[in-house]
Amino acid sequence: MDKVKAKTKQRIVKLKKVINHHRYLYHVLDKPEISDASLDSLKHELNQLEQQYPDLITLDSPTQRVGGQALDKFKKVEHQKRMLSLTDAFFDEDLKAWQERIQRLLGHPMSFGHRMSINYFAELKIDGFAIALIYQDGVLIQGATRGDGQIGEDVTQNLKTIDSIPLKLEIHQKLLSRIIQDRVEKLLANGRIEIRGEVYMTKKSFEKINQEQEKKGLPLYANPRNTAAGSIRQLDPKIAASRKLNFLAYRLITNLGQETHNQEHQILQSLGFKISQDKHCFKLEDVIKFWKEINQKRKKLPYLIDGIVVSVDDNKVFNKLGIVGKAPRGSIALKFPAKETTTVIEDIVVQVGRTGALTPVAHLRPVRLGGILITRATLHNQDEIKRLDVRIGDTVIIQRAGDVIPDVVKVIKKLRTGKEKKFQMPKRCPTCKGEVIRLEGEVVHRCANLKCGSIQRQQIIHFVSKKGFDIEGLGPKIINQLMDQGLISNPADIFSLTQGDLVPLERFADKSASNLIEAIEQGKKISLAKFIHALGIRHVGEETAIALSQYFGKLDKIRKASLKNLLQIEDIGEVVAQSIFEWFNRQGNKELIKKLLDNGIEIEKVKTVKKKLIGQTFVLTGEMDRFTREQAKSKIRQLGGNVSSSVSKQTDFVVIGQNPGSKYNRAKKLGVKIINEQEFLKIVI
Ligand code: IVH
Repeated sequence: MDKVKAKTKQRIVKLKKVINHHRYLYHVLDKPEISDASLDSLKHELNQLEQQYPDLITLDSPTQRVGGQALDKFKKVEHQKRMLSLTDAFFDEDLKAWQERIQRLLGHPMSFGHRMSINYFAELKIDGFAIALIYQDGVLIQGATRGDGQIGEDVTQNLKTIDSIPLKLEIHQKLLSRIIQDRVEKLLANGRIEIRGEVYMTKKSFEKINQEQEKKGLPLYANPRNTAAGSIRQLDPKIAASRKLNFLAYRLITNLGQETHNQEHQILQSLGFKISQDKHCFKLEDVIKFWKEINQKRKKLPYLIDGIVVSVDDNKVFNKLGIVGKAPRGSIALKFPAKETTTVIEDIVVQVGRTGALTPVAHLRPVRLGGILITRATLHNQDEIKRLDVRIGDTVIIQRAGDVIPDVVKVIKKLRTGKEKKFQMPKRCPTCKGEVIRLEGEVVHRCANLKCGSIQRQQIIHFVSKKGFDIEGLGPKIINQLMDQGLISNPADIFSLTQGDLVPLERFADKSASNLIEAIEQGKKISLAKFIHALGIRHVGEETAIALSQYFGKLDKIRKASLKNLLQIEDIGEVVAQSIFEWFNRQGNKELIKKLLDNGIEIEKVKTVKKKLIGQTFVLTGEMDRFTREQAKSKIRQLGGNVSSSVSKQTDFVVIGQNPGSKYNRAKKLGVKIINEQEFLKIVI
């Protein structure tokens, strides 16, 4: 080598070192010390020198990041160790179940020679694209996609364009363990190291790329992950280079003596890779804390994440746990609740709130959002519907933000078929048919009958009370909340609520929401008498409801009963009969009954008892052993008999218990048949 060449070579070596150092400061540590322009100028010089002496170009030269020619197709590469995926978990409970499973699999607590308490390692789950990097003697020789886990595609050229991927490995920070340090040094000089991680695009780069697309009138990219994946699969590396991708490492496949995941991360970092925020956790509670903490701050992160990855920290234990399907048993992805999804608006229904405010609510094709089923979204008011231009049949993006029911954020108008229907606020209140008004300066429409909403509220409270549907946990406060959110405005709405409707509300967590849904589900089965009572028909108390249920036996018969029919029932006079008749013939009530039945209310069959006491009148006096007074009365009524409070010639039986009152004497005087408890039992049982 002549003198000039030797000097140039020296300069090249130095330039490569300096450029690589600044690349690392800028792209890995995010702490640039010189400007982009200066770095470009150094690269430019290096490039020129290499052009003079092409034989001095090395694989790890920064100029080689965007060197390659476009390919015809990617080469297939076989992974030495299968690239796996992860099992998802959404709730604390899933995580606990995972812990129990692995503890069970690990068997006896002493099986590892010491008491097993599992330590965990938690890190961020980057929403990107998995790749595997191979370094031979410290130099990047291959980068591949996951493919089917066994065989992927060689995308080395494209990966080289990513500045946060070192082309040559070096030790940036000394490792704590001497053994590991020695082993790393050995393999960097002579050996193979495999590293896996995620290629991703920052939120900022993604926005920028879409702004450019928009300027050019080109279609927008859907999300950073697809854009990153798409860029890596381009045959021409210039495209990947223009996309400003990033890389974050999370697994060290080669054994460098690491005993824990935690150490693995430290080695990766020391080798010059970006790693995500991580945490060594002594117990599951710490993992959950970390998960919550990250969920809080994920908005501020420069890239999208969709959860955390939790692994058994000890590699020996991790390996012992093995693989199930395509995922290692020792890791789990604990996802964050998704905030957005798409679905179809099947209907827009107006709910009347406590103050008479009308809220249009979108009934959605059920969709999972963050692990729970969502069926409703609020459309707030007429102005909002106009602003969104939302129509029945539209495909929309819905979003959950904070403690409210989901919002419709956008209509995907390109998916319209032309059959979508516009929505109009009704002119009459759907509940009381009162006039709907909109006050000057207000965005909400209201039912002018100010009592309408509050009457509904009272009706619902009565409906779910002990003597009606008896739904535990559904008290007035919750009813107010549900009405205010537009989730319910009549009793039937309760039965189409889902856990997903409740979870976003204040005072509800997953558990309490699922408890209430369970209570509602159980409440669906009801006796006819309780059902009638729950309807809150004027003048129809418990007794009358029982009488109606006993007499007619079926809801349908009560619904269709004529006034004359109703008057045939003992104890039902004109006023009560009229009230019942009118109630069942009002249109709104007919709809309510239909909706209740449609929503799965199941009325238990009325036990038909032989009505052997029809036409017989009983009077009760004194205390019985077997029955309370109320039970005795109800027995007589069940069998078709009547109970009267005073003895007359028309009385058929006077039943005497202990310490009978004056009725006993009167019965004797009138010669009415007197029976004791034993004889009474024989009649009614
Ligand atoms: S460990 C056993 N750690 O998530 C499989 N994966 O849903 C190795 N991912 O295919 C995965 N961030 O593309 C791991 N910190 C992280 C990750 C991560 C993102 C991706 C990766 C994987 C997918 C599984």
